[in-house]
Amino acid sequence: MTAQLFTPLSLREVRLRNRVVVPPMCQYSAERGIAGDYHLVHYGRFALGGAGLVILEATAVVPEGRITHGDLGIWSDAHGEALARVAGFLKAQGAAAGVQLAHAGRKASMQRPWEGNGPLSADEVARGEAPWPIVAPSAIPLDEGWLMPAELSPADLDGLTAAFVAAAGRADAAGFDVIELHAAHGYLLHTFLSPLTNRREDAFGGDRAGRMRFPLAVARALREAWPSAKPLFVRVSAVDGLEGGLTLEDTLAFAGELRALGVDVLDCSSGGLAGSATAARIRRDYGFQVGFAEAVKRETGLSAMAVGLIVDPHQAEAIVAEGRADLVAVGREALADPNWTVRASRTLDGAPEPGFETWPEQAGWWLERRE
Ligand code: FNR
Repeated sequence: MTAQLFTPLSLREVRLRNRVVVPPMCQYSAERGIAGDYHLVHYGRFALGGAGLVILEATAVVPEGRITHGDLGIWSDAHGEALARVAGFLKAQGAAAGVQLAHAGRKASMQRPWEGNGPLSADEVARGEAPWPIVAPSAIPLDEGWLMPAELSPADLDGLTAAFVAAAGRADAAGFDVIELHAAHGYLLHTFLSPLTNRREDAFGGDRAGRMRFPLAVARALREAWPSAKPLFVRVSAVDGLEGGLTLEDTLAFAGELRALGVDVLDCSSGGLAGSATAARIRRDYGFQVGFAEAVKRETGLSAMAVGLIVDPHQAEAIVAEGRADLVAVGREALADPNWTVRASRTLDGAPEPGFETWPEQAGWWLERRE
């Protein structure tokens, strides 16, 4: 029997060659938001390594929506043109190209992880990386010592929706096959969804319907702007893992609404809402978030992507073969081995190619003859 991990999947008119996705992973290596050689080579390795879909990291739709000074952006045509080079290479190597559209909300204006992972400090200011004013649904900072976000007005929200739509237009022009809307990990849209960070008293807060209103408006606008031939993914934190935070029930309600407006895949992550001092209680074990994808599929009929400590080909195969998720994302393990997918194609019983046929021929031809 064919390994299910290597069964192609068609979403609208985009065909993924297999079920392995490299999920968005910020590299904090852009100059003024512009993709460069680093991004071409870094993402290109995953396409050469056989992934079905490579989703570029959180890419800010406005400059203030970056997490750090090193984030990718897509707020001008020049940004889109730099990304087109990356998308073109991924597709030339047989992978579908995705980009995650993002706004960091109250988690904007931070240090790169390896420079402290905290609010920008005097060190960064001294070398020209000053903090900038941040925004959120409500004026609640991430943690003690962090910047206070300004509360967004309804007019600001309209402006942000327009920024997401403009970004989708640039992503289309750049040749991307998939956009993923980032509504997870404590960034802007997640903070609208969660009752812990959305204390608004207008139409964009309050009960679950109110808290979902802005994220759904952005998703709807993206679905209208993004070509009907191309799939739209949304990434959520399925649970906050915090007292009084988002629950799976909230996420299933959100997923149902997203499905109704034409979203194609829910990418099911979790956590990230609070600062480090109040870390969420989510037990991280192999495949710890697969149950969220499975519940979304079962309860709402929306296709789902599983992510989180999926490291082994047999584990990934079982998730797809048992119908628990349609796609599996392999993040850090792909950082460790960009060839994860082509190696998996030789490991799994019933994988279509026992040899090196799924490898780029520049390597595969030689490897085939090595033994
Ligand atoms: C991430 N993650 C992440 N998630 C997201 O939605 N947008 C992003 O830009 C990033 N950035 C990012 C950077 C780095 C270096 C890592 C390691 C992770 C989360 C990532 O997509 C994935 O959900 C987690 O890494 C869990 O999957 P793995 O790594 O256990 O397979």
